[in-house]
Amino acid sequence: MTVRRLVILGATGDLTGRYLLVALAELAAAGFLPDDLAVVGVAREPWHEDRFRRHAAERLARYAPALPVHVRDGLVGRLSYVAGDVGDPAVLAAAFGSHTGRSLAYLALPPSVLAPAIEALASIDSSGRGTIVVEKPFGTDLASAKALNELLHRHFPEEAVFRMDHFLGKQTVQNILGVRFANPLFLPAWNREHVLGVDIVWDETVALEGRAGYYDRTGALRDMIQNHLLQLLCLVAMERPDALNEKDLRDSKVELLQRVRRLTAEEVWASSTRARYSAGAIGDRHLPDYAEEQGVDATLETETFAEVTLFVDNDHWHGVPFRLRTGKALATDRREITIRFRPPVDPVFGHEGDPPPNQLVFQLGPDRMVLDLALNGAGDPFCLEPAELELTLAPQDLSAYARLLVEALEGDPALAIRGDEAEECWRIVEPIVAAWEKGTPPLLSYPAGSAGPEGRTGAC
Ligand code: BG6
Repeated sequence: MTVRRLVILGATGDLTGRYLLVALAELAAAGFLPDDLAVVGVAREPWHEDRFRRHAAERLARYAPALPVHVRDGLVGRLSYVAGDVGDPAVLAAAFGSHTGRSLAYLALPPSVLAPAIEALASIDSSGRGTIVVEKPFGTDLASAKALNELLHRHFPEEAVFRMDHFLGKQTVQNILGVRFANPLFLPAWNREHVLGVDIVWDETVALEGRAGYYDRTGALRDMIQNHLLQLLCLVAMERPDALNEKDLRDSKVELLQRVRRLTAEEVWASSTRARYSAGAIGDRHLPDYAEEQGVDATLETETFAEVTLFVDNDHWHGVPFRLRTGKALATDRREITIRFRPPVDPVFGHEGDPPPNQLVFQLGPDRMVLDLALNGAGDPFCLEPAELELTLAPQDLSAYARLLVEALEGDPALAIRGDEAEECWRIVEPIVAAWEKGTPPLLSYPAGSAGPEGRTGAC
């Protein structure tokens, strides 16, 4: 049954303005929004509908300038607004109205108000209610994620909950499964016998961008590694699911996550790095020290760079390091997954001067696949040279957010994070958070616009 009403809780927040409204406008432009879909915003601001519409129009002009004006105006025209507390059942009842068809509640809310909003949603008439989208971060640690799951499951079936991780809406991320499982060429080589290590890197040139309220209490480990980068690890290393449906796909991911070793305090010391950017420049952008950014509490020692090496204790991957790295205000945007293969055991061509071993790289943005090979050189055919097979991947038709929104509107949670999956991710990250909170290893510093902290990080 098609969704007839989309209620956005947290409708005046940054996330709604920057991502959700843009995704809705994209879907409208692509003809994917049902004509009779009503979109209702709920937030604290004591605004009337006109004021909310002006706000939405301004956000769309800022974040979706490339979309035709008539599309943006069309979306703004279907918005309505209810002012009030998202934890107040009367406010939510007003937002859902007397509508009885399937609806979608989009919780674009900070963790502190999620629980009251879920309670309020559950207390109003639930007949015909469809899907509840919950944004990241899902909890702030294992205990809060469990509590949130318990609360959700008390009132709603798991299939009705769509925990959002927009990385799963990225086409090239989904393509990892196709490359792995539809190409028998790769299957025999995709394991510890042939893979030396995997690097999952998400280096960004963007810095804090006015997000101190969220980011300063979150940090790079929780913002990126706990969710997005662990999802990438899953897709690279999980067993082949029997089918790509909500159960099998997510069962395979959970099985894999359960085999990711929890690091001891000593291992966290030896194989993780946390750092924070200091003043510097990226091109002609001059950035202040992170500690001087507006809204930052420097005593929290929030990391803007995190790197951790994890191991998967199963037959396929035992002993293979998976290095996950992400940072803000770095010199270049580098978003890629590299599978590094072992060198030949007994090279016919001798060791000296051999090019580096094979590696397969998935680059995300621009999306490309690169396979590094060793081939016969131009002169002496017995002298090998490095060569690259390079492929530009098909451009994504819809943004990752818009793709996932389609899935949520259709009520298919296969590309959403399941409750147990979110908890497993926190289980992996928790010992790292605990050690870092004790100051081990110490927080390093790197100038904005540099390649990251020197000294401790792996050479990925
Ligand atoms: C968000 C993080 O979830 O993902 C941001 O909160 C990060 O800090 C962003 O910049 C990265 O995603 P993308 O798709 O913009 O590369």
